[in-house]
Amino acid sequence: MPQPHLRTVVVLAAGEGKRMKSALPKVLHPLLGRTLLGHVLSAAAPLAADRTVVVVGHGADQVRAHLGEVAPQATPVLQAQQLGTGHAVRIALDAVPDTAGTVVVINGDVPLLRPETVGALVAAHEEAGAAATVLAAEVPDPTGLGRIVRDADGRLEQIVEERDADATQRAIREINAGIYAFDALRLRHALSKLSTDNDQGEEYLTDVFGLLGSAGESVAVHVAVDHVETLGCNDRVELAALRRLLRDRVNEAWMRTGVSLLDPHTTWIDVTVALDRDAVVDQNTQLRGTTVVGAGAQVGPDVTLVDTIVGPGASVVRSHAVGAEVGAGASVGPYAYLRPAARLADKAKVGTFVEVKNSEIGAGSKVPHLTYVGDATIGEQTNIGAASVFVNYDGVNKHRTVIGSHARTGADNMFVAPVEVGDGAYTAAGSVIVDDVPAGAMGVARARQRNIEGWVVKRRAGTAAAEAAQRARGAEGASGAAGAASDSEAMHERAKPVGGASGSGDTATE
Ligand code: UD1
Ligand code: MG
Repeated sequence: MPQPHLRTVVVLAAGEGKRMKSALPKVLHPLLGRTLLGHVLSAAAPLAADRTVVVVGHGADQVRAHLGEVAPQATPVLQAQQLGTGHAVRIALDAVPDTAGTVVVINGDVPLLRPETVGALVAAHEEAGAAATVLAAEVPDPTGLGRIVRDADGRLEQIVEERDADATQRAIREINAGIYAFDALRLRHALSKLSTDNDQGEEYLTDVFGLLGSAGESVAVHVAVDHVETLGCNDRVELAALRRLLRDRVNEAWMRTGVSLLDPHTTWIDVTVALDRDAVVDQNTQLRGTTVVGAGAQVGPDVTLVDTIVGPGASVVRSHAVGAEVGAGASVGPYAYLRPAARLADKAKVGTFVEVKNSEIGAGSKVPHLTYVGDATIGEQTNIGAASVFVNYDGVNKHRTVIGSHARTGADNMFVAPVEVGDGAYTAAGSVIVDDVPAGAMGVARARQRNIEGWVVKRRAGTAAAEAAQRARGAEGASGAAGAASDSEAMHERAKPVGGASGSGDTATE
């Protein structure tokens, strides 16, 4: 004989959610880091149920695929036709015939439910040895919800749907939250007796309470302390309201752990994010997915971080990062874009209008301005000149660029990968680096400048530029030279040493 299961969680997620007007099943809509269904499953997780069954129907394939990602231990059970919440639970239990003990049923659309609340419901139910216990809440506006109807002694008599309720019952503000604990055997028995004699012609799970009560079984009500937890989601206006409520809950919790949120109303932190003490989050900032922000780091204003790790003491300003790592004390932005596998070591800097993808930037190295770094490894204490491009793509394949430590690359360089610049090497401004530059060498890859004397006066005669040139030449005391110049006369090269130690600006910008 196999051991009976003692706690089973059943999540009802087969409904379409018509009022969402969406191609996505309602329970898959996202809310600060999890889907509605994901929130419900995580609220139920601490129950340590032996088994979790999710009733799927509308968009079953999508919901099953999502479960495979977020709750692979859960068993999806198909309810091909949505004939009511009672029908859904019956189908769920039919799929797990050995279920005994407590069955916890949760509507799939109550994402603000806290684990503590569902835990308290189940504990109260099991301690009382009740046949069925419903989570109830007193709400300001009960419109559309099932009402808790009590007898003169305050005992639960039945749960009545609004559309089946009389005027007195409609005035009741104590509602059914759609979260229940049942004794498995007695639930099974009652489910077999459900009728469809109601306004919707559906099998109502809520009718189980009336049936059990009239059979003399004990049915109980557990009242939620905070009615906000029981709010359902039926359309996108409600979804937005739930998002604001969850934002406030998450933000308050982080502030209480020692994180500063300078403008909590414009700070949106997924429930899956972690922040360390003394992190400071400035306004208009979204922290999403598996993002982690280290102690004392400063993030914002105007930052979006998705699945990104920010080290202690780092700073990220007006930037967007996805799947990136920012080392301790590193600095990002304003206006940087870090793409997946951008890894900045400690005290590295990625500055303004810089995009980094799949690249390591070593400790203390800087990419300060107007640059694309793709598929590169940059060593330590290196400076990359402004307006450089790591040319990683040949149209078919991607190639890597390796730059050593203590290198100084010139402004406006192209590194045509695969290519390497050695430790301590320099490159001249404006170079297209296609060959490796050995350690300590100066790589120069550009045409020499030539000046064609007198060209403007000759070829653009009468323009303001020509007049300015003539004035300048006149002031120099040069007489007649301009008019006489020819292209060939001006072809001489200057003997200036390129990139010499003269500080000529070849490796400009730090
Ligand atoms: C239900 C309750 C109501 C309660 C409210 C709380 C019933 C009859 N009524 O009403 O008392 O106040 O929740 O939010 O239970 N579902 C299925 N299969 C079905 C029908 C529904 O899986 O055949 C799922 C839906 O996807 C949803 C949940 O069950 O997640 C609740 O269904 P819904 O239609 O939203 O019930 P409500 O009318 O809100
Ligand atoms: Mg509902």
